[in-house]
Amino acid sequence: GVDTLMRIPPSELKLHRRRDDAWSAFNGKVYNITAYLPFHPGGEKELMRVAGRDGTKLFAETHAWVNLDFMLDSCLVGFLVSEPSD
Ligand code: HEM
Repeated sequence: GVDTLMRIPPSELKLHRRRDDAWSAFNGKVYNITAYLPFHPGGEKELMRVAGRDGTKLFAETHAWVNLDFMLDSCLVGFLVSEPSD
């Protein structure tokens, strides 16, 4: 549920850029894309380009018509937030 979702700054997102632990952010939402990688019609390599970072721009450039929210609903891990300042 929504209560289990995390607030994820870019520094945390960056820690998940491996083939076996890949997260990416799209429109402010962070998804665990690991399980989806082998199923991406555009290929694993293309999708791995956005692992560990914000993929909003690349996604919009390639297929703005794809409903990512719907497709990856069960892979949602949290929301992208700005880096906490200290
Ligand atoms: C194709 C989903 C991220 C590059 C597709 C298609 C889907 C899809 C459903 C087929 C679209 C169609 O035939 O109309 C997703 C999802 C993504 C994602 C859910 C995010 C998790 C990306 C990113 C890139 C990318 C970040 C680029 C870096 C491509 C390319 C194709 C494609 C090039 C065309 C493949 C072809 O038809 O030969 N993707 N995609 N995708 N995707 Fe993605």
